[in-house]
Amino acid sequence: MSTNRVQIFDTTLRDGEQVPGCKLNTDQKLIIAEQLDSLGVDIIEAGFPVSSPGDFKSVEEISKLVKNATVCGLTRAHKNDIKIAAAALVHAKRPRIHTGIGTSESHIKFKFNTTPEIIIERAIAAVSYAKSFVEDVEFYAEDAGRTDNEYLARVCEAVIKAGATVLNIPDTTGYCLPEEYGAKIKYLKENVKGIENVTLSCHCHNDLGLATANAIAGVQNGARQIECTINGIGERAGNTALEEVVMIMKQHPHLNLDTNINTQMLFETSKMVQEHMGMYVQPNKAIVGDNAFAHSSGIHQDGVIKNRETYEIMDPTDVGVTKSSIVLTARSGRAALAYRAKNVGYELTKFQLDALYPEFLKYADQKKEVVDQDIHELMEISKVL
Ligand code: KIV
Ligand code: ZN
Repeated sequence: MSTNRVQIFDTTLRDGEQVPGCKLNTDQKLIIAEQLDSLGVDIIEAGFPVSSPGDFKSVEEISKLVKNATVCGLTRAHKNDIKIAAAALVHAKRPRIHTGIGTSESHIKFKFNTTPEIIIERAIAAVSYAKSFVEDVEFYAEDAGRTDNEYLARVCEAVIKAGATVLNIPDTTGYCLPEEYGAKIKYLKENVKGIENVTLSCHCHNDLGLATANAIAGVQNGARQIECTINGIGERAGNTALEEVVMIMKQHPHLNLDTNINTQMLFETSKMVQEHMGMYVQPNKAIVGDNAFAHSSGIHQDGVIKNRETYEIMDPTDVGVTKSSIVLTARSGRAALAYRAKNVGYELTKFQLDALYPEFLKYADQKKEVVDQDIHELMEISKVL
């Protein structure tokens, strides 16, 4: 693998599924896991096996099904969680245990009522125990975003010695600014002994709308795994959206970062997750929203009809959207009207178009959007043909 390959760790079925209303049954999880495997994700976080018998079963069945990706199960730094996760993953071709503990001052003080030294001991014990079951052990330092960098570096060094293969640096509360998060990754790269032998991972939440920017700042500073979900679903305001980070890396080749994702499957995967979870993205959602490749103002439509690249930085077919759309509204110009009329069979002369346009505007002022059927009606009532 090239050094600039970024591993895509999908947590739709774990961090995504823990959202109220997004619960999936095992059959639905299997359908999504199979899709994620075909999409080319490197790691599928299939669930939190100790949390319920249903989640255990899902992780177990996903482990049997998945052909290419590593299958991962989440645990707390508890022996029983780890033992149960190992049992759920036993059929996986490439199993990974994801264990960890809170490292920020507030987690140590309020959640665990303990000391920083005891947290390090518990982290080491969890990683060593997980290592007795599987080779691939990822450690998460929960709330790393608000953890003091020097202490975080000590935790990282300790778990590397205990055998961790991947270090997850979560911005659990979505607090960091991109410069801050990037600097944290850089600090760890420069100050942790043994860091060159492990993969640093970004796990960012979207409380301030920065989950995607933070993950990108992380990989620009040396992280080589991004934890993300389809459509950015996840706790509270969600996680980094898979489709966004993947397309950022693709559209900016100078970053010299790539992934194994088949981007042409992004749109269908997004739709599949929306349908199964009953959680629909807003029309203006980047990459996969219904308006992501729709043009409605006259100026933009005129440009796109002349050359798509005037107002589009991505080819819609690269993400599995058949084509850009020209939406007819009262803000549309003559070029858009002529284009859409031609699509439904009316090749208009300049004279006909000039006659039709004022009628169209009157019509469009009454409606949110003028659809194909409306164009036929408009042709009839305006009698321009
Ligand atoms: O946000 C977070 O810190 C998490 C961990 C459990 C990895 O989801
Ligand atoms: Zn999370």
